[in-house]
Amino acid sequence: MKINKAIFPVAGLGTRFLPATKAQPKEMLPVVDKPLIQYAVEEAYAAGIRQMIFVNGRNKRAIPDHFDTAYELEAELAAANKRELLETVHSIKPDDMECIYIRQPKALGLGHAVLCAQCVVVNEPFAVLLADDLMVGKPPILKQMVDQYAEWRASILAVQEVPPEHTKRYGIVAGTPVNDRMMDLTHIVEKPAPADAPSLLGVAGRYILNPGIFREIANLPRGVGGEIQLTDGIASLMRREKVFAYRYDGKRYDCGSKEGFLEANVELALAHPQLGAGFREYLKGLSL
Ligand code: G1P
Repeated sequence: MKINKAIFPVAGLGTRFLPATKAQPKEMLPVVDKPLIQYAVEEAYAAGIRQMIFVNGRNKRAIPDHFDTAYELEAELAAANKRELLETVHSIKPDDMECIYIRQPKALGLGHAVLCAQCVVVNEPFAVLLADDLMVGKPPILKQMVDQYAEWRASILAVQEVPPEHTKRYGIVAGTPVNDRMMDLTHIVEKPAPADAPSLLGVAGRYILNPGIFREIANLPRGVGGEIQLTDGIASLMRREKVFAYRYDGKRYDCGSKEGFLEANVELALAHPQLGAGFREYLKGLSL
């Protein structure tokens, strides 16, 4: 079954980036020249997904505005014959892409945010992308996962090795390898202390989930941090059907942290076709 829907939970308060996020969503913070949410949407589009479902909260008007038509801007760019810029603005939302907005009335956690989109997803497999994990890969990470889904037809979580002292930041998984990248999961725990972690494989912010997950989340008690955790829903789902972890081929920037955000800006600027060469020279000239 084709994956055609992606959920973007974007209702978080972004407190780690205050004061930058006082009046704008953290997902609108730019890495080089594009907001984080646009990288995630482009990744979903490249994986063949056409319905983008944003689970939004208060003070997030900038996200629907970003994916909407900007008549005045477009008219001015057209009148000034600035075709390249006009194309840049148009390409944010290709014509065959649909954006759907759902409001999460209370910040009750990632599992709850996903559950808020059930009315749109209903009964098909879907992707979840956390925009503050900026993922770079060839093919893009979600495309790699969609290809795996076509083969295995089971829920798949993107995972990577994490340092022992970072287990408290991630969902941590363990299971039985089925090949060099796929693992049949037996355990998943949200943010364990290093001593309690079943492995050092941490979940990155990309998931493909079968719709059975909704029933599991709906029956969950509050988990870590008093929130309804997606990880706990996945743990319940694993008791009914197979769930796999996929060691993706690529790099993740944790743009939910200031360090990761800065690293993403530096590395993507160096890789930028227009800016890269000049920026490299600039960095070389810094006496560090
Ligand atoms: C969420 C998930 C966690 C996952 C992480 C990836 O945590 O709950 O399992 O490993 O995203 O970024 P958050 O970073 O929202 O606290």
